[in-house]
Amino acid sequence: MRTEKVTIHTLRQKKAAGDKITMLTCYDATFARLLDDGGVDILLVGDSLGMVVQGNATTLPVTLDEMIYHTRAVVRGARRAQIVGDMPFMSYQTSPEDALRAAGQLMKQGGAEAIKLEGGAQHAELIRRLVVSGIPVMGHIGLTPQSYYQLGGFKVQGRDATSAERLLEDARVLEEAGAYAIVLEGIPLEVAARITAEVSVPTIGIGAGPHCDGQVLVIYDLLGMNEEFKPKFVKRYENFAVRIRTAVDEFIDEVKNGRFPSEDESFSLAPVKQKKPATVSAIALAGGCSPTPGSDGPGDDAGDSSPKPKKD
Ligand code: KIV
Repeated sequence: MRTEKVTIHTLRQKKAAGDKITMLTCYDATFARLLDDGGVDILLVGDSLGMVVQGNATTLPVTLDEMIYHTRAVVRGARRAQIVGDMPFMSYQTSPEDALRAAGQLMKQGGAEAIKLEGGAQHAELIRRLVVSGIPVMGHIGLTPQSYYQLGGFKVQGRDATSAERLLEDARVLEEAGAYAIVLEGIPLEVAARITAEVSVPTIGIGAGPHCDGQVLVIYDLLGMNEEFKPKFVKRYENFAVRIRTAVDEFIDEVKNGRFPSEDESFSLAPVKQKKPATVSAIALAGGCSPTPGSDGPGDDAGDSSPKPKKD
């Protein structure tokens, strides 16, 4: 099992060695444990949670408190992957002081090991201040979902020469300001390839072609949780929408037909371990006729789904 913690240095080494970086979004401890065990390098607590978890049409309504809540949950589930917390809309645009405070909260209260913010050259000074304060910053350029209304929707960026040049310049400025990695979202593969070749920090693409140093997907998209959402850049590795519906159908059917729970999933009067033969009064003292979770009876463990502390 991989146990070495992923840091900004690991990611730099990966770029230098030509090893692809993998990043997935993650919003809770259960997924964090699974994705971390699976060997993903970075867990991004993305503000995409505003859409896939909260059901909003955009990421704009997400608050800093919500980001802190989800980041804390992800941190509890993971131990190897780097945890990046997304700065939500209007947590960093209002002033550098607001941004420093919000990023600090995401790290101090949420446990994030780095933050991500959207935008290019306009944030150079802010990124410098965050970095000198000890906050690793991941940049994000191209299709920046927090600018949904300004971009006129979720539209591919950098398709003409001028905007492609602007993206390249944004990437250079982010690198120079101290960003340790840059997400390239929704841009032509040729532009992403050029940026990746020209900056020394890793680029992580989503809808930006195969030449980036790494790739990121929203975990719900990868798993096929929403059959109605299949943009060109998403590859579904599973069809969980169908599998979940099938499982739920089976559950409903079995409950209605009396097949669940069976004896296997039921408790019974447990044989209480006794030194002396049990008497009626001893059985009464041991809890009478109610199930006795935690007793020594076989299969009587009522279960504990809370995560166990991890040992190295
Ligand atoms: O919020 C998010 O999930 C993101 C990724 C799509 C990069 O920013």
